[in-house]
Amino acid sequence: MTTLAHISDLHFGTETPEIVEGLLQDLVAVEPSLVVVSGDLTQRARRKQFVAARLFLDRIPFPKLVVPGNHDIPLFDVVRRFARPLARFRRYINEDVDPFFATDAVAVLGMNTARSNTWKDGRLSLAQIDDIRKKLGPLPPHVSKVLVTHHPFLPPPGDPSPPLVGRAAEALRAAEACGVDLVLAGHLHCGYTGDIRTHHGHIRRAILVAQAGTATSHRVRNEANSYNVIRLSPQRLGFALRVWDGKGFHEARFVEYVKSGADWQPAGHDPAVS
Ligand SMILES: [Fe+2]
Ligand SMILES: [Fe+2]
Repeated sequence: MTTLAHISDLHFGTETPEIVEGLLQDLVAVEPSLVVVSGDLTQRARRKQFVAARLFLDRIPFPKLVVPGNHDIPLFDVVRRFARPLARFRRYINEDVDPFFATDAVAVLGMNTARSNTWKDGRLSLAQIDDIRKKLGPLPPHVSKVLVTHHPFLPPPGDPSPPLVGRAAEALRAAEACGVDLVLAGHLHCGYTGDIRTHHGHIRRAILVAQAGTATSHRVRNEANSYNVIRLSPQRLGFALRVWDGKGFHEARFVEYVKSGADWQPAGHDPAVS
């Protein structure tokens, strides 16, 4: 069993210090195998904000995989935005903006979707989609395969309006061919889980999705600060939503899926009677 902590949209510069401390305490209690950070570590890509994000990451005593978000590219400093968009991210957070983490049980591929020209919306390149095939394709079926981006592949339930990551359809085709089980993203400051097929009709096999809310910023959108704890094995995948209640994080929702052939089904669902 592998435990992933999925945190996102930290937005240092607009963080609530009490929640930052609460998150660190909660992560230590959860003891994840890997902490995934799906972008927007800063509010305005300022040096001071990156320093604060770096200090926060240094206090997490577990392996970390971090991708940038659109807020990690400067918006108003146009010279820096186009000439060196991720220079500060590379300097303070990680030189590699498409990081890869793998054990015998899990392989996690992070992909940078932040772009200078469409500052808010994100995109994948054809080379990144090729990397999905190269890095995840050869792995055996018992390895759980996970993609991480900042921009989402699946809109929130009941609201198809938010733009999805550019080239989502092509990337999902590659992900399906490689047996990807799970996609993690953020950006919308809204925590939800789902099956990619509810929005992408061309995908035949379940690829599960977890979107994380903002873990630490006061820029919430109608829901409390939260993050996801994901427990995965070749046969089971459980999503726990951990929500800030003013004093600490607690589990507010739990959803579990079980493997059925090559597919994932909600636990308790009998495919024979559907
Ligand atoms: Fe954000
Ligand atoms: Fe974002």
